[in-house]
Formats: sequence, structure tokens, C-alpha cells
Amino acid sequence: MADSNADRALEALATEERRFPPAATFTAQANTRDRSLYEHAERDFEGFWAEQARTLDWRKPFGKVLEWEAPYAKWFADGELNVAENCLDRHVRAGRGARVAYHWEGEPGDARTVTYADLLALTNRCANALGELGVRTGDRVAIYMPMIPELPAAMLACARIGAPFTVVFAGFSAEALSGRIEDAEAKVLITADGGYRKGGVVPLKKNADDAVARTTTIEHVLVVRRTTQEVPWTAGRDVWWHELVERQSPECAAVSLPAEHMLYLLYTSGTTAKPKGIVHTTGGYLTGVSATHRYVFDIKDDDVFWCAADIGWVTGHSYIVFGPLANGTTSVMYEGTPDFPDKDRWWQVIEKYRVTVLYCAPTAIRTFMKWGDGYVRKHDLRSLRLLGSVGEPINPEAWLWYQETIGGGRCPIVDTWWMTETGMILITPLPGVVTTKPGSATFPFPGVKADVVDDAGRSVPPGGAGYLVLERPWPAMLRGIYKDDRRYRETYWSRFPGRYFAGDGAKRDAEGYLWLMGRVDDVMKISGHRISTTEVESALVSHPKVAEAAVIGREDPVTGQAIFAFVTLRSGNESSDALSVELREHVVKGIGAIARPKTIMFSPDLPKTRSGKIMRRLLRDIANGVPLGDTTTLADASVVETIRTATGAED
Ligand code: WTA
Repeated sequence: MADSNADRALEALATEERRFPPAATFTAQANTRDRSLYEHAERDFEGFWAEQARTLDWRKPFGKVLEWEAPYAKWFADGELNVAENCLDRHVRAGRGARVAYHWEGEPGDARTVTYADLLALTNRCANALGELGVRTGDRVAIYMPMIPELPAAMLACARIGAPFTVVFAGFSAEALSGRIEDAEAKVLITADGGYRKGGVVPLKKNADDAVARTTTIEHVLVVRRTTQEVPWTAGRDVWWHELVERQSPECAAVSLPAEHMLYLLYTSGTTAKPKGIVHTTGGYLTGVSATHRYVFDIKDDDVFWCAADIGWVTGHSYIVFGPLANGTTSVMYEGTPDFPDKDRWWQVIEKYRVTVLYCAPTAIRTFMKWGDGYVRKHDLRSLRLLGSVGEPINPEAWLWYQETIGGGRCPIVDTWWMTETGMILITPLPGVVTTKPGSATFPFPGVKADVVDDAGRSVPPGGAGYLVLERPWPAMLRGIYKDDRRYRETYWSRFPGRYFAGDGAKRDAEGYLWLMGRVDDVMKISGHRISTTEVESALVSHPKVAEAAVIGREDPVTGQAIFAFVTLRSGNESSDALSVELREHVVKGIGAIARPKTIMFSPDLPKTRSGKIMRRLLRDIANGVPLGDTTTLADASVVETIRTATGAED
């Protein structure tokens, strides 16, 4: 990044004073009560991870822990294991087959209880069916399914036979699906007739057909019947799950696989239009997700864990499927949206299953704030004991609302920073040990080493801001971008050679706490100062009338860029020029005059990806009047038109 003030990588303007030490009663029962995990990991980082890896069952024990030839790591490489066996068989063998793996809740209100024994049988039947369809160890399988129990079973079935899978989020279009199938050269596609969402049916099979028509590698399409509507059918290629899978044997030998065998590919957006196929492998990944799940969420046998993500994203892979199952945990899995049939659905689910740990995204939290406390108060949420946040920076106002209104003031909050590429949570409090500050993800997980550096790669002093880098390998780290070594090296390892460049801005306060400030490609330059979009958004959202805000830098002839803020008001409030002035001054009060938005545009909604991330790049393009790039990941494309029309009118 060209910058005359190269070593002042970011202006860190916000200050957050409140702090929340863990309650003594929480610490007394916590899986980690003191700093010993941190100390062990610092003393002997490989030994620490080896100890975590040994909580798994290995068919062939590993001798070597880490081989690091930057930028490629191998973990436990001479060991062998099977992920499905670790997630299922070993719990059943230990007499825990009757434990619930998933309390599954369908959107229309149907429900299924899936025990570990049930999930093992389902997985084995699916693995045998894949074998009958010609899938062998090493072949790739694409999965495009709604949030139903057959989805984790399909992933585990692939893992059982060593066929790397790629889950494509069911909200993606046929075009997005076909690109991923092509890149992965998948042989079989597993899908469903449809899925339920917001009361309607998503036509998955039709999308799947459109996608397959554009590709050349798919031999069979395996279709679960979920919604029972008529679907197009290609004889010979298409197979019903209930016909093929259900007649298979519930026994299937798990293949002993080298630790570095590819477990899955997950496609994620980068700075170009072509998504990157992030490669995750077997032994290190399972070690990383099970250890973080156990310690970050303080998981106990009687917990009911709910990660409210979609399995189509990495959060679902790691914390709905592999982490919780490796730990033998009981999870909730919910098919639909939070507002069906009404805006209290999540709170109803928590009350129904007595959920103890909830893990969700700040966007969801801010949406609930917007909807108002009334929906929350209708339900008994006293089962909750721990809350987690993931996916984007959480502004202090949302953090405090989450803590008070959802957590009743008694639940620690773990703000967990990580990425598709990291596979596992890397920066997070340990809830029994670390005093939290609203909006800070606090410190690296034991064994993880992070730094905040300036443009020249120098560590910034306390109070400074810069780029987040990771200083040493971790077990669940990506093993590259599928078939694209050059892009892997360029994206993550060339900015600061030898160190992993996350692409996030971060601030480290005087006490060493890390504050993630959003993607650096979303950082603005205002009169030569860099200001994080997140900080301005946080200031706006702290205004009682604001539900959500997205801030971008708009080209400006005088100041280089000017702050352009898109603001969504909480229900019951009207936009006006007076409010616009009030909000500008509110930001000035919270951060400083430098951060005063030049333009505030009120918008009934903001363009978001289907995973709930605000697409700031798109807003920047709209505000700057440049042609729009890729909009295929938008949840609701009409939002863009609404905003664009309004912006045009304003000019
Ligand atoms: C952002 C999601 C602040 C960050 C697991 C990262 C966060 C990107 C946090 C990865 C957090 C994730 N605080 N920012 N707790 N967690 N992010 O691949 O910008 O969908 O680079 O993985 O999300 O997004 P991804």
C-alpha cells in the first residue's frame, strides 16, 4: 500500500474502556481456569499441539509433529486416522451411541433427534452408496444441500472413504455451483429436491441440474427428498437417496488415511472474481477444531451447543460438524431463517432445547437489536451460559446488547476471530481466564502467535494499529489454494515474507488486546488519514436510532476519499436532514472530526452476502458510480437497485 506515513498503518481512533472479568463461579467450573495452557504452548508449542492431537484416535500414531517448509505445513504427517471414525465410531464404541448428536429443527416446525448411533448408521449407508456410485478414495464429491441431517452425514461419508468433498452453500446460484464443481472436478453431486427458507421452497435440484449441465465431470446426482415437490429428473444419472442409501448396509469400514490427506475444499471469495478453493486436510484440521471447540466454548458433556451458521460456510464445517462431533457434543441444527414464522424463532429454539452455548454472527445480533427486545423477552433463555460471536468485528453496542439482553448479564462472550483459511478459531478469549473488553477478540489461542505490523513489517508499539499477521503455522491452517500455488503464495505470503497475511487491520491496545478492524481493502484514506470503516460504523450503530451502518470511502477531489455512510434505522424512526446532521455529530463525538461522514444515505436495507456480510466493495462502487463487479453472492440483489437509484437521485 502506497502511503507517505507508511509506519502509521491505520488510525486507531476509538477507545473502549469497559471490561468484563470472568465470574469466579464460571472460572471454577471452566475447562481452563488459569494460564497453564498458554504457558505450556509457549514453552513447547509442538508438544502442546501433539498433546491436543493425542485426544483423537489414531490408527497409526504420528511420530513427527510439524514439518514447516514455508508456506506449506505438514502436521502429524506420518500418522494415520479417519475423521468419521473420530467423530462417530469412537463415541458409539465408548457406549455413548444414545447421546444426541443433533437436535434438528426444520423450518416448517418438523424435528428430528439424531443420536450418535443414528448418525453413524446414516453415514455408513451413505458411504456405501457413494461406493456403489463409483466414488473411490481421492475422488471429489460436491455437496449442495439444505441444513438437514443428511448434510453432515454426507460430509462424514466422504471423510469415511477418503473422498474430499466441497460443500457449496445452498443459497448460491447454479452458476456459482458449476464453477466450483468444475474447479474441484467433482464426480458426484449430492443435493436435495429443495430446502425450506422463509416459508418458501428453494429449488435445489433445478439449480443443481442447471449447474451440472455446464460441467463435464459429474457422473451421478444423489438426491435427498426433503420438500417433495416435482423435480426434473435425468434417468441413469440421478438417484434418489431414499432408494439407494436406505437399502445399504449400516456397516462400512473406515479407511485409514494419512494425516495430510485432503478432507475438503471450501471455496471463498478473494479480490478477484474467481473464488479460491481452500484446501483443508485431516489430522491437523481435526486437532485444531476439536481443541478450540473444547476450550473456547468450555464444552461439557451436558452442554447443548448451537452454532447458528450455515454448514455451507467454514463456521458450519468447523463448529457444527467436525469440532462438536469430535468432542461428542450435543448440538442444535436449524434449517431456516430467524424470522420464520416470526422474529422470535431463535429464542423459541433455545427455550425448546435448553441451549447452553450460542455461537452466531454480529449481523444477526444487530438484526435482533433492530427487531426489538420484545421478541427476546417472550422466551426463557436462562439455559444459556456462554455466547460466541464470529465473522466480522462486533461493535461494542452489539456486544453489550448480546451480553445483557440475550445473556442476561451472566454469560461470558467469546469474540472469535478466524477465517476460512485458518480452519479454526485463532484469536479469542478463553472464557474462564481472560477479562474481555466489548469489541476486542482479545488474545491468540494457546500455541498461536499473532502480531500487528506496519507497512514495513515492523511490530507496532502498544496502542498502534496495522496489519494482522500470523507468525507460525497452526494445525488447521489451509494447505494451499487448490491447483493454484502461485495465488496461494501471492495472497497470503508475499506481503510479509514468511508470515501469513490475514488481510485484516488490527489494533493492539496498551494491554496487548487485539481489536480487529475489518479487511484492509475496506480501509479508507481521508485527508491522508486512514480510518477503519468498522470504527465509523460502530460509532453510527452506537446511536440509539441506528440499526446498521456500512461505511465506504468515496472518491473526493479535496480529501482523497470522503466517508460515505449507508445507514439503516431501527424500526419506528424516520430519516431526515436533522437526523443526518445529528448522526454526523455523533460520529465526531465518538471518534473525532476526522471521521465525520460527508454523506449519509438512509437505506431500508444493506446489500449482504448470503452469509450476512455487508458487501462494502459493492457500496463503494455504487457510491463512486463505477460499474458493479460480481454480485452473484448477494442475498437480495434488489437492494442494490434501490440504493443505486437513491444515490443517483442525490447526485
Ligand atoms: C472477519 C469466518 C472481526 C475477518 C470465520 C476475516 C472477523 C474474515 C472475526 C474471514 C471477528 C471473522 N472479528 N473480524 N471475530 N471473525 N472476521 O473466511 O475480516 O468467512 O478476515 O471466515 O471475517 O471470513 P470467513
